[in-house]
Amino acid sequence: MTSQTLREARKYEETYDKRIALEDRPGFHLSTRVGWLNDPNGFSYYEGKYHLFYQYHPYDPYWGPMHWGHAVSEDLLHWEYLPAALAPDMSYDRDGCFSGSAVSLPDGRQLLMYTGVKRIPLEEGGFRDEQTQCLAVGDGLDYEKYEKNPVLDVKNIPEGCSKADFRDPKMWVNEDGTYSCVVANRAADGSGQLLLYTSQDGFEWKFKSVLIENHNRFGVMWECPDVFRLDGKDVLMCSPMDMLPEGFEYHNGNGTLYLLGTIDEENGTFKAQTDHAVDYGIDFYAPQTILTPDGRRVMIAWMQNWDTSRLHPKETPWFGQMTLPRELSVKNGRIYQNPIRELEKLRHNKVEYKDVVFTDTIKLDKVKGRKVDLEIELEPVEGKELYKKFAVRFAQDCQYHTAVSFRPYESILKVDRKFSGSRRAAIHQRRSQVSSENGKIKLRLILDWFSAEIFVNDGEQVMTITLYTDQAADGISFFADGSVKMNVVKYDLIG
Ligand code: FRU
Repeated sequence: MTSQTLREARKYEETYDKRIALEDRPGFHLSTRVGWLNDPNGFSYYEGKYHLFYQYHPYDPYWGPMHWGHAVSEDLLHWEYLPAALAPDMSYDRDGCFSGSAVSLPDGRQLLMYTGVKRIPLEEGGFRDEQTQCLAVGDGLDYEKYEKNPVLDVKNIPEGCSKADFRDPKMWVNEDGTYSCVVANRAADGSGQLLLYTSQDGFEWKFKSVLIENHNRFGVMWECPDVFRLDGKDVLMCSPMDMLPEGFEYHNGNGTLYLLGTIDEENGTFKAQTDHAVDYGIDFYAPQTILTPDGRRVMIAWMQNWDTSRLHPKETPWFGQMTLPRELSVKNGRIYQNPIRELEKLRHNKVEYKDVVFTDTIKLDKVKGRKVDLEIELEPVEGKELYKKFAVRFAQDCQYHTAVSFRPYESILKVDRKFSGSRRAAIHQRRSQVSSENGKIKLRLILDWFSAEIFVNDGEQVMTITLYTDQAADGISFFADGSVKMNVVKYDLIG
């Protein structure tokens, strides 16, 4: 039975998404159907299609009572909107259906687990959140909330832990057919921790252990956890709130973190060995991963960040898009990320330049555009002093540009969107320490109208930003302070 609240949301999105022209949306990144989008939810493969749900407020371009938007795709690049899947329509989720995940049940149905939020007003003013984990079962289109909801509530939270912050369940099916899930919570000291729960059938859950405690090491509350095995390592990903920068890591305030380590299955604990930010740009939060039918671990994230997501005008018809889905692998103690290989099918009009030596600003014939895959390889020129700086500028005309620059002496890569057309004094620049030797570096820039994702050294690091520059600004130019030798391969991304 569809509730009135869900019917209204479905009617609203159907009416209003027609008012957004296709060319005013990203070309191959999923954007919200209408209104507002944040975290990816329920990323899954079900009945021959990828399903992606998302935190959704259809009625205006700002966060509000959370629904789950819904889209499906066969290749993770072309998305078809389906009607909203969940609306805040029950007493236990009346203030929002927060983030969660999805699995397939043995009987062929799809199971969603999400956080139901209920705000209880306090006598002294303000309110207290009641966050519980809830289920909905469906057929890939319509979902029925489980009659025994919530399935995890305060009774399932260990003594002394926060009863208010308890959200974002990520569940998975184990090899023996049982189910596990991790839920974000806070320990007595206010610092983030993840709770591990298990279930025989996906419906009845019990507490197993505190998987890991943050001890205020990485930010405060950890949101949107994900746990998976990759290339012989156990990986824990999450999005810590209020992070302090450490060297060139964690510059985002609301940041992202991955830990490589090992899970002790018996005791249900995670032991971390290394930590890094997941992305080093500005707009990236709440990543969620999926194991594809052909065995790839693919990650998608909200291509925005809380600190820069409240500055757009009220009239904006849509706000919020996902990153490009990225294939993950573990190499040299790090997670490498590369655009999903399906993107290669969109590559057209190849243009290639080899051994271009330059010492100032240059443009290359046919190298321009805003939906572009651009591979750049740099090296110093033999017999010349090492160059001081290289930059590629894009989304460029006489007024606007966004730049990625590299300084080999410091090995610093910088993105800068100050001149992208923003009228706000928001965060526009980010620097990252990258690996390079003697001025050699490889960059792959994926541009899609409103975003740039910069993959460094075959995916060792990624810097992601959004930009809302006038679409007519489609120039690309290169700059060198000193002598640079460069190879460029450029494709238009079409289709
Ligand atoms: C992360 C988050 C989640 C929550 C959701 C609410 O961006 O704050 O913790 O479930 O967004 O929209």
